[in-house]
Formats: sequence, C-alpha cells, structure tokens
Amino acid sequence: MVNLSPAVRNVAPYPFEELDRHRRKALEAGRDVIDFGVGDPREVTPAFIRRALAEGVEAVSSYPRAAGLQELRGAISGWIGRRFGVELDPDVHVLPLLGSKELVFSLAQAVVDPAAGRDLVAVTAPGYPIPERGARYAGADVRRLPLDETGGFLPDLGAVDPATWRRTAVLWLNYPNNPTGAVAPIEHLRLAAGLAREYGFVLASDEAYSELWFEGGPPPSALQTGDLRNVVAINTLSKRSSMTGYRSGFVAGDPDLVGAMKRIRPSIGVTPQEFVQRASIVAWNDEAHVERNRDAYAAKRRVFRDLFARHDVAVAGTATFYLWVRVPDGRPSLEWALDLLDRGGLIVAPGSFFGPEGEGFVRIALVPGLEDCEKAAAVLDGLLGRERSA
Ligand SMILES: Cc1ncc(COP(=O)(O)O)c(C=O)c1O
Repeated sequence: MVNLSPAVRNVAPYPFEELDRHRRKALEAGRDVIDFGVGDPREVTPAFIRRALAEGVEAVSSYPRAAGLQELRGAISGWIGRRFGVELDPDVHVLPLLGSKELVFSLAQAVVDPAAGRDLVAVTAPGYPIPERGARYAGADVRRLPLDETGGFLPDLGAVDPATWRRTAVLWLNYPNNPTGAVAPIEHLRLAAGLAREYGFVLASDEAYSELWFEGGPPPSALQTGDLRNVVAINTLSKRSSMTGYRSGFVAGDPDLVGAMKRIRPSIGVTPQEFVQRASIVAWNDEAHVERNRDAYAAKRRVFRDLFARHDVAVAGTATFYLWVRVPDGRPSLEWALDLLDRGGLIVAPGSFFGPEGEGFVRIALVPGLEDCEKAAAVLDGLLGRERSA
C-alpha cells in the first residue's frame, strides 16, 4: 500500500459526488431528472468565443508562459478598468489562471507560514468548499465565520479577536456569495481590506459571480477599496461567459503577491493553453453576451421566485445563479433534497453540503434551460401544494 500524506488521507469526499450517485441511480431506473445541483452552466458559450478558440490553435504547440499572453493581461485589466473604474498595470497587477479554482485552492500554500505564526485561514460558512480544502492541504487551521440571514449573510468581522487576526494568513470572502446569493456592500470589503493591512494578512476576494446580479447595481469589487496592498480579487469566465470547460480566470491586486504567484507558477504548470487565452481575450472584451446571459438567468429566477412566493417559501439572494431556499417545515435539508429527487426527479444541493451552517436551506443552481426550469417549477408547485395540504 502506498503511504498517503495526511492532507490527502484526511480529505473528505467532495459532497457533490454523493448527489451524483443518487442522480445515476435515478437515471438507471429510467427516471427523468432535472439537475439543479452543481453550478455548471448549460447556457451555450457564444459562437464568437468558440471561433476565437479554434482560430487560436497553432500548428506548433509550445508551453504557455506563466505570466500569460500580454494581450490577455491587457484585456483583463481593460475589463477591470471599465467595470470597476480601477486602473491596473497588466504587467504587475494581473495574472491569468487556469480557471479560478486552482488559485482558490493553492493560495494558502503561498502564504501560510506556521514558523512565522501565520497558521490560520479564515473562510465564510456555508461556503464554496475549496478555500477550506486548500487551507487544510497547506497544513493551516481553519476559522469558519458563520453567515446567517440576520447578518445579511455577511461575516461579523468585528467578532474576531486580534489574536486570531494575527494568526491569519488569508481571509476568504466570496461576494456575490455561493451559496446564499448575497452581495457585500463596498463598506464591508473596505473593512476587511483595512483589517488585512492592519494585521498583515491577505484579503482574497473571490468574485466569480460578480456579473450575475439581478437587483440594485453591479456588485462592487475588493479592487475598489482604494488600496491594493494585501488585497487580491479573483474572477473567472466560467459563470459570466458560460466557459467552465475552458478553464480561464485571473487574480489581480497586490503586486507583491501577484509577482510571487508568477514566480511559483512555472514550477506548477497551470497557465491556460494559448488557444484558451485567445478565446478569453475576446470574452473579456465583450459585454453584450454577458448581458444576454444575465437576462437568461433573470427569466429563470422569476419562474422560481414567483413559485416560492406563492407557497410562502423564503428565498435569499439577489445575485449569482443560485437560489438559497429555506426548507419548509424545518426538515433536514438532505431529507428534503432526496425527497425532491424521489418524488419529483429534481436534484438540488442540500445546504448541509456547504457546512453545518447551511442546514435549513437547499441551493438551487439555475443552470438547466428555461424550459426545464418551468417544468421543474410545475413539479415543485404540485409537491409544495401537497405538503401544505398534508
Ligand atoms: C465561489 C466560487 N469560486 C470559484 C469557483 C471556481 O470557478 P472556476 O474554477 O470555474 O473559475 C466556483 C465554481 O463553482 C465558485 O462557486
């Protein structure tokens, strides 16, 4: 038997694998299933992006440079300038990523330093599991900052004591938030950035859903907090441009940290293929397809929000393609999720998959097409009606 490192040995199975098992079983039993589980968009990638990918394939294939193509860094900083009004130097503030997940996972390895007393990563919970998994892989302790409805699904940063902040290597925030759909006001990001500089940790702001907003104005970025020191923002084409399979994102912000990541990355080999970078350039340079994408999700949101309003089921969130739905009658979230699959052929993610703090909710990822959403809403209408009259 091979010996595995504790980081690998102790890793819990990815909770969505369990959903996948249930899904396969339902499909094998010949059931129709509509899958609102994983946040993998089923919207088509716009044709002009696919064309740029195909045209980007060169006769001779070379290793991509760790810093990415100059044109891509330029396209990213141009987008940041237009979207957030922040002028960045593409050569010092911006680094393309092979999708954002790889950096969300690996950032802790770059900044956790137990010998220097930096042995802690702070994450929000319920949450995307990767920041915590990356922290554990880096040998760090994890402090989970709970998000709840009364706090607007924002962490209470004032409740963390100075000794904890002094141990902190990274504070992860993710707004618009997966799974709650909450948006953080700029003041919250400013407070977090100020703490990062005061106590010498990194504020890592995962902004993967920044372009999927449905109420109020466009959500702010940590890049707008007025000072880039100790602050990085991470973003991706996966959700905004329906490009999950391309694997293309960026990290931008503190030049020391971005520079350090650039130095490490040739050893890891995680730069996107150049043809993906070519496709990414045209994607960052176009907003029309993002607006169409937002409209498509808005239509799907309306279908479900109307349905849940009719049944008095509370739904949180004003952004992302997730609905964070309170489980009726206080049932355990896994039980309701399995019941929806069993009786309605609908896959949703139980809140408990995002940590115990997510109990009492399920997450609906509005990734199937509008027609499937309408079909699913009709099924839910029947199920909720029956539950109420039972
Ligand atoms: C909060 C959050 N961050 C990052 C990602 C990773 O996106 P990608 O690696 O496709 O860029 C996801 C994916 O679901 C996510 O939900």
